[in-house]
Amino acid sequence: MKYRRLRLGVAGLGRGFMLMLPTFRQHPGVELVAAADPREIARTQFERDFGGRSYACVEDLAADPNVEMIYVATPHQLHRAHVELAAAHGKHVMVEKPMALTLDDCAAMITAAQNAGVALMVGHSHSFDAPFLKVRDLIERGTYGRLRMVTALNFTDFLYRPRRPEELDTAQGGGVIFSQAAHQVDIVRLIAGGPVESLNAMTGMLDPARRTEGAYQAQLRFENGTFASLTYSGYAHFDSDEFCGWVGELGQQRDSSEYGTARAGLAKLTSQDAERALKETRTYGLTPTPADKAPSHHNHFGLVIASCEEADLRPTPQGVMIYANDRRELLPIPAGHVPRAGVIDEMVDVVIHGQTPTHSGEWGMATLEVCRAILESAARRETIHLQHQTRLA
Ligand SMILES: NC(=O)c1ccc[n+]([C@@H]2O[C@H](COP(=O)([O-])OP(=O)(O)OC[C@H]3O[C@@H](n4cnc5c(N)ncnc54)[C@H](O)[C@@H]3O)[C@@H](O)[C@H]2O)c1
Repeated sequence: MKYRRLRLGVAGLGRGFMLMLPTFRQHPGVELVAAADPREIARTQFERDFGGRSYACVEDLAADPNVEMIYVATPHQLHRAHVELAAAHGKHVMVEKPMALTLDDCAAMITAAQNAGVALMVGHSHSFDAPFLKVRDLIERGTYGRLRMVTALNFTDFLYRPRRPEELDTAQGGGVIFSQAAHQVDIVRLIAGGPVESLNAMTGMLDPARRTEGAYQAQLRFENGTFASLTYSGYAHFDSDEFCGWVGELGQQRDSSEYGTARAGLAKLTSQDAERALKETRTYGLTPTPADKAPSHHNHFGLVIASCEEADLRPTPQGVMIYANDRRELLPIPAGHVPRAGVIDEMVDVVIHGQTPTHSGEWGMATLEVCRAILESAARRETIHLQHQTRLA
């Protein structure tokens, strides 16, 4: 069969889109043909960069007959409405993490996609990264015995990056549970493979000036007996990129002598409007479109260790470190030419080759259920039992 490219439309040309942009430009399986965003400056930039059509609203994008699939990268609270619009116009969808803010919204999105006969995927999340997929593969093969325990830890400056006001309001999807646990839970679920049975968690709002959860610790029990510990702090001081050879989350080499730059940048601002304006200076249309370059490392999400009976497996920006009974070695995974290539690989497999997605709507809903259960367990000081969990496809 003649090779063809998936014709993708983008809803929301913000920061999330900018992080996927190098992938969209360089992956041979996809072409950007249209976009929607209320910001005219972003639409103009899109037309300049891609020559595609641009619209002020998602409904017009969804009605564009040239678009096959829509990547929804609008703010969390709009995900449901935009997925429903895409499905109503017969478009496949990939919606950014977190899939939505409530389980009811997730269920409605899944139903909308099923009724329309279109595929629904949730991502990007770091569980698409090749080193995590390799760890899962080693576990499935049983190379080092059964998986018993997963440890995940990430310390970042998430809470001190410039934010829109709703990104600091938990009720509107703000804080690290919706934006960052969505990655960490996804990774741990991928590695463990099976449904989460129950969890206990605590959360922290440690800065009175930014009143949303900036940290959490959660203990997860999986149905297959595996247990996991997840720790996240967005208040760093300590930065866990130090554990990853000063490679950043996006696979970029960082300057280890830099310290406290996010906090210092924020300290200069005097109002929420100034903070929103600073965020916008980093977004599409207001900052130069990054030049294409091959990644030097994989993306990562801090320290993750999968403890099997015969080895500890540690995904790294270079591959997988294997700490076996008799030796320690790196299983290298070349970073390839396209960052986050796994996201488009899965889209193409699903839309063009009709395969079942790993990162399906049901998968995204199960991750959101765990995220919401972290909040609930912390608030009620109780163990939460999960009801909407899935197995790996
Ligand atoms: N996977 C990742 O690594 C990653 C990284 C960043 C953001 N994200 C996700 O992307 C989503 C957006 O976050 P962000 O940081 O890019 O926010 P942002 O504010 O930078 O961008 C949002 C964009 O959506 C546009 N928008 C707002 N309302 C719209 C509407 N009704 N129709 C069309 N466009 C509209 C805005 O103008 C803006 O360009 C979130 O769900 C977030 O979790 C994912």
